[in-house]
Amino acid sequence: MRSILAIFCVWICFGVDASTPSAGCSKIPEVENAEVSQSSRKSNYTDGDKLEYNCKTGYASLLKITFNCTKNKWTKLRDGKCSLKRCELPEDIPNGRYIIVSGRSFVFGTTIKYICKDDYQMMSRFDTRTCREGGWDNQLPVCEEVSCVPDNTEENVRVEGLPDNEGLIRYGHRLTFSCIDYGWILQGPNEITCLSNGQWSSPFPKCEGETCPLNTTVEDLKMERFPNIDGPVKPGHKLIFSCNREGLKLKGQKEITCQSNGEWNSPFPKCEEVMCVANLTVNMRSDVTKDGHPVPEVSVRPGHTITLLCVGRGVKLQGEKKITCLSDGQWGNPFPKCLGGKCGTPPRVNSADTIEMTKNEYNSGERVEYTCFNKYILDQSHPYSKYLTCEDGEWRGNIKCLQPCSVSLEEMDERGIQLRWRGREKIFSPHGDRIEFSCKKGKSSIGLIQTCNDGVMNLPLCV
Ligand SMILES: *[C@@H]1O[C@H](CO)[C@@H](O)[C@H](O)[C@H]1NC(C)=O
Ligand SMILES: *[C@@H]1O[C@H](CO)[C@@H](O)[C@H](O)[C@H]1NC(C)=O
Ligand SMILES: *[C@@H]1O[C@H](CO)[C@@H](O)[C@H](O)[C@H]1NC(C)=O
Ligand SMILES: *[C@@H]1O[C@H](CO)[C@@H](O)[C@H](O)[C@H]1NC(C)=O
Repeated sequence: MRSILAIFCVWICFGVDASTPSAGCSKIPEVENAEVSQSSRKSNYTDGDKLEYNCKTGYASLLKITFNCTKNKWTKLRDGKCSLKRCELPEDIPNGRYIIVSGRSFVFGTTIKYICKDDYQMMSRFDTRTCREGGWDNQLPVCEEVSCVPDNTEENVRVEGLPDNEGLIRYGHRLTFSCIDYGWILQGPNEITCLSNGQWSSPFPKCEGETCPLNTTVEDLKMERFPNIDGPVKPGHKLIFSCNREGLKLKGQKEITCQSNGEWNSPFPKCEEVMCVANLTVNMRSDVTKDGHPVPEVSVRPGHTITLLCVGRGVKLQGEKKITCLSDGQWGNPFPKCLGGKCGTPPRVNSADTIEMTKNEYNSGERVEYTCFNKYILDQSHPYSKYLTCEDGEWRGNIKCLQPCSVSLEEMDERGIQLRWRGREKIFSPHGDRIEFSCKKGKSSIGLIQTCNDGVMNLPLCV
């Protein structure tokens, strides 16, 4: 076996060598992780020429690798070797440590990452370092204790739990919030916590509230604010009113409160002229006239005196006939009355007649009954009844006849309707009657059943 190899070598080894006689050194030797330096590159090498090698990026050799061309062969002069460069052992940082993310043994290309210990946070922009040609890149990262930075709060927000002297707000620290003014509502949580990443558990809350409109130009009205401060009127604030001169009376609420929806709980009051008022009965007249006619409603200013008299047969005035209006809007004496006396014939009432023959004279307490014309219905709901009563010379009570409804054929044709059960026929129905319509062939409508209401009936429209 060994002899066969020897023969092989004689043929191959010497055969190769023999093919390049005295032509200098040819094939440049391969060196792992290295390449021939630019300065020793040539097209032909002859005896005595040197080949110098440089290590590839990231590699280094302790000895310079050099070959010498000796008798047409390259001879290694020094036993250099390019091996991966190594960075220095990475530095430790206070409050953190590093782990290897990629690579090994801190050789060229290795990346390490720094991690802060609990309750500390990375303050540097880069938390990794990579072993490069010139050593570790990036600055050594810095870990600082976790702390949250407080936001600015508005004036109306009260914050509790802020440290004195701008001390650190550490992880887990709590702040509580409330609104300084009553009526304002906290928008957001009333408590927030500093988280382990140095952020707050939620944004700082605000105090917000509606404001009520303040009209300071209401005529003759004097208002006081409570609390007595300037600025917007917030919920809970009050206004207290009075009138700004004699002879005026406040009408409406004296005190109103701003509600949380920004509206007053009651409208602004008004200041009105103080007046004495009275409604005169039918059998009474006063010297207060309007356009020369006596008026049933008397309304006079304080200080004014009016004179009253009674009308009608035998009607007598009870009380003072001259009466004065006082500054508080009250009459100086009890208002007089017209009593006694007889009534004349009862009045005519629209669409109604008395049941009995009427007399020329009636005593107090006597009454007459009315009845409505055909197809009219007597309304007996309050304040109406079927009687008028003679009281102190005047007829009192109310009679009302509810009107029937009438609908002509033309009106029905216009709306394309007819009576459901009777066909083409005009309508004259008393109050309260239910009328059922139908549409002419091929049409339809809603509300085909209608009720007559005091002469009014809504007619359907067929389309
Ligand atoms: C290089 O070698 C070639 C033949 O291998 C020869 O022709 C040429 O002249 C040589 N050049 C130099 C500069 O020696
Ligand atoms: C390099 O080779 C030349 C020619 O063969 C020889 O004279 C010289 O001594 C060698 N140099 C070294 C340092 O071996
Ligand atoms: C304020 O009062 C004046 C005078 O009474 C009135 O003309 C005006 O409309 C009121 N404005 C509001 C906002 O209520
Ligand atoms: C007078 O009558 C009117 C209605 O006609 C009424 O509104 C008013 O309150 C009455 N006044 C008094 C003092 O009774």
